[in-house]
Amino acid sequence: MNHSSVRAALAALALALGACSAPESPVAPDGLKEAFAGRFLVGAAINDFQAAGRDSMSVAIVTAEFNTITPENVLKWEVVHPKPDSFAFDAADRFVAFGEAHGMFLVGHTLVWHSQTPRWVFEHADGSSLTRDELLARLENHISTVVGRYKGRIKGWDVVNEALNEDGTLRDTPYRRIIGDDYLVKAFEFARAADPDAQLYYNDYSLANPAKRRGAIALVQGLQAAGVRVDGIGEQGHYNLDWPSVAQFDSTVVELASLGMPVHVTELDITVLPNPNRTQGADIAETAEARAALDPYAAGLPDSVQSLLAARYEGLFRVLAARADLVERVTFWGVHDGASWLNGWPVRGRTNYPLLFDRTGLRKPAYDAVRVVASETAPKP
Ligand code: XIL
Repeated sequence: MNHSSVRAALAALALALGACSAPESPVAPDGLKEAFAGRFLVGAAINDFQAAGRDSMSVAIVTAEFNTITPENVLKWEVVHPKPDSFAFDAADRFVAFGEAHGMFLVGHTLVWHSQTPRWVFEHADGSSLTRDELLARLENHISTVVGRYKGRIKGWDVVNEALNEDGTLRDTPYRRIIGDDYLVKAFEFARAADPDAQLYYNDYSLANPAKRRGAIALVQGLQAAGVRVDGIGEQGHYNLDWPSVAQFDSTVVELASLGMPVHVTELDITVLPNPNRTQGADIAETAEARAALDPYAAGLPDSVQSLLAARYEGLFRVLAARADLVERVTFWGVHDGASWLNGWPVRGRTNYPLLFDRTGLRKPAYDAVRVVASETAPKP
């Protein structure tokens, strides 16, 4: 065939293909970010392997589906600031570069947390405790260095993570013991000074439980009374098949939003596995021994549980869609089931199914359920 007959053949083929694509044929599917565009951002926590582009399956999902990312670990103190005089920014830089390359809203997680923070933060070399002023100086240095490095690029920060007990009182952490209750005010002030335009959040889990929710509301009001601007409140959203109820989730969103700031669902996932502990939530210090009975779906998820998970996601997203004016962002804690921390916590080595994509990167029925909610509730153009 010469060039012109190749062109003619291609044109004929294009016509034929065009004729096949009748108006009702499915167009290339867009992502969750488009499905909820104009309502809230949709995102995922990503790990360093993913940010480095070494997990192409996850990268494809993240770029197709999400418009915001949170680093699963690389901005935590123990990773980014492992020794008193040395910061390790390589992985955090990869996270930021990945997000910027894809035009995403970047969340920093997290500046002040009692977990994944080295002991030396609170102690001198001889093991004695820092004084209030010493710890405040160390905290200011940490926050100004980390936030300052990504000023104007990481747009929102979980400034303080998990400061509350389940009854809504302040948790007894080394920060609180050494500095006093105003460590939260100081942390927000340091972050605000480091990047005046960043969005600053308070983040915690189990705010669906009324006592803890009341504590979170009082905590944020206390910050505001001290002159601190808080830009959002994050409910992590580590849930299970029964808890919280849809009604409880709805009142959580509404009551948190009564603070006058947007609600962020920051770490959404739904475990389908038995809970070895009595507690709800996501205290990473809580662990349990492995037993076969705790890992019932190692060989695969039964359809019945798959359906329960889909129904559960549908229920939660119906609330989110109905309350979209109060919600700024919904971030899943992980990209696909195989990458979820819930395979390792609170029991190591289990096979969990908490997210919208399976281990092979395929959309699960839960994904389809969320898409149905998105289209049924889409605002009229
Ligand atoms: C988890 C990570 O997903 C794990 O990889 C890590 O080993 C422990 O921390 N609440 C939070 C998150 O705020 O930072 C935690 O992330 C999950 C619970």
